[in-house]
Amino acid sequence: MMARVAILNQKGGVGKTTVTLGLVSAALSAGRSALVVDLDPQASAAWALGVDGPSGLVEALKGGGSGAASNSIVPSSWDPALQVISGGLGMQQWLPEGGPKTSARALGKVLKGVDDDHDVTFIDCPAGLGPITVNALAAADVALVVTESSAFANNTMAAVADVIDDVWDQVNPDLDLGGVIVNRQPAISSEAQSRFDELGKIVGKRSIWKPAIPQRVIVAEALGARRPIHSYGARSADVSNVFDAHYRKLERTLQKARS
Ligand SMILES: Nc1ncnc2c1ncn2[C@@H]1O[C@H](COP(=O)(O)OP(=O)(O)OP(=O)(O)O)[C@@H](O)[C@H]1O
Ligand SMILES: [Mg+2]
Repeated sequence: MMARVAILNQKGGVGKTTVTLGLVSAALSAGRSALVVDLDPQASAAWALGVDGPSGLVEALKGGGSGAASNSIVPSSWDPALQVISGGLGMQQWLPEGGPKTSARALGKVLKGVDDDHDVTFIDCPAGLGPITVNALAAADVALVVTESSAFANNTMAAVADVIDDVWDQVNPDLDLGGVIVNRQPAISSEAQSRFDELGKIVGKRSIWKPAIPQRVIVAEALGARRPIHSYGARSADVSNVFDAHYRKLERTLQKARS
């Protein structure tokens, strides 16, 4: 196993799932095997990967046994080297049992050993910083925050950083802050540019993975067509190249986190 990355933000609709899928697409085109754990009750990532309906993660979590999620791995239509675990709507009702530490470690427990044979595991979180996101951070080696250049998105950064710090402090001392990926950057917008600069002041310029992912119709199109962004070839090259660069950086970060 190379390692696990949790993709999160308090804010909805900023592109957590889009970036998860773009990085998965880049991982596959780099010849890696991957697992996607979709924790969002909406299960958008699983759907885009060709998985209809939940794959049994909620049942595994409720059973709670070590490695229980091995029964909920299903193939993706994208690539034989990609598998998916999805909870679906039932995640909405899921509340981990036990005290703060036990309840935060529920996901890590059921994933134990399950992704040993995958090069990289992506955990796509729902919007928010509740128990599901805390579980993802507790199970991960690296946290990746996806955001956009807007005032509302910048306003959530302090709360996101606090939750990552809390999990690192209390539950998962091995958790690394991978960085912040800015998604859906418009080509020409002085508002977006000044919010991007503001974000650099909030999280520290070095935390932002450059370049930002551009706003492009083809990104939404790929999602709707349930296709990897790399499958569009030259039409999506400007976006695919950015995901490739971020995936290479992610690999370096994961290798560091694991060593
Ligand atoms: N770079 C982009 N260019 C164009 N459209 C984009 C881009 N990134 C995301 N979108 C569109 O924005 C919408 C929200 O993206 P996405 O579902 O990835 O966000 P999310 O943070 O995962 O949302 P949620 O909080 O609901 O999980 C989608 O319709 C998606 O197609
Ligand atoms: Mg999402």
